[in-house]
Amino acid sequence: MTDIFSAIQRSAIRIKDAIDTKDIGYSQQENSSGETQLQLDIKCDMIIEEEFSNVASIHTIASEEKEHEVMLHENGKYFIAYDPLDGSSLIDVNLSVGSIFGIYENAFGAKNMVASCYVVFGPRVEMVFAHNKVKLHLLQGKDFEFVKEIRLNEKGKLNAPGGTQQNWKPYHKELVDSFFADGYRLRYSGGMVPDLHQILLKGGGLFSYPATSDKPNGKLRKLFEVFPFAFIFKKAGGEAIDGEKDLMELSHANIHDTSACFFGSHYEVQRVKEVYANN
Ligand code: F6P
Ligand code: MN
Repeated sequence: MTDIFSAIQRSAIRIKDAIDTKDIGYSQQENSSGETQLQLDIKCDMIIEEEFSNVASIHTIASEEKEHEVMLHENGKYFIAYDPLDGSSLIDVNLSVGSIFGIYENAFGAKNMVASCYVVFGPRVEMVFAHNKVKLHLLQGKDFEFVKEIRLNEKGKLNAPGGTQQNWKPYHKELVDSFFADGYRLRYSGGMVPDLHQILLKGGGLFSYPATSDKPNGKLRKLFEVFPFAFIFKKAGGEAIDGEKDLMELSHANIHDTSACFFGSHYEVQRVKEVYANN
């Protein structure tokens, strides 16, 4: 696993350089979810593939930017699903973006996840790696220095409600409003990585991306986005559900499948469960 951790660190340093220096023009291509790819999305995908190609323990990779999985080393045991540059549409307005990695053993699937990691590219570059514990690292020069372990409180103060309100179910809107009525503060940039990072580092709260009338299975992708963060939130002492079920109990049929998702500390997720159970 240390070789994978090092490859992710090397990728992060190269991606940071690409963000700082590369043109952000659109390519002529769309990814599997129908989003127009930036040249930067493609560049970051290439960087990660190159770094992972040098790691013999990696069997197969799946990327949000690739239609199909790619086998790298027949004798490897890890399957890594990654989103090379999550939130890349925020680059032109200079907001934070991130890379997300789900590390699975023997095959893709929530039940096979053994570690998970994300990198935040903001004013600073930070990396969170979850194996047994959830650990925060900060890029200083060319090295990632350990900063601290991340643990969620029982209850937080932040509310990050994703999706278009117009398409929310009425009971979902009531749930979101009820948190604001209790004094929760709105914190939503539209980048999954910085929005969840903020909740993890400020002790807790709720991030939701529900099933909506236009996206009945939610928007966020299970293998590259949902499972990696669900693993991290659970290891940090929080919870991650699809409205009723633990996200880590979900299966997937296709590598680009999506799911509704809620990540947070115990108190907030308990409230989601109560509201969703009654609707
Ligand atoms: O990758 C999808 C993504 O960009 C996430 O980073 C983010 O949480 C979400 O979409 C935002 O979606 P919306 O603009 O619909 O709230
Ligand atoms: Mn993404």
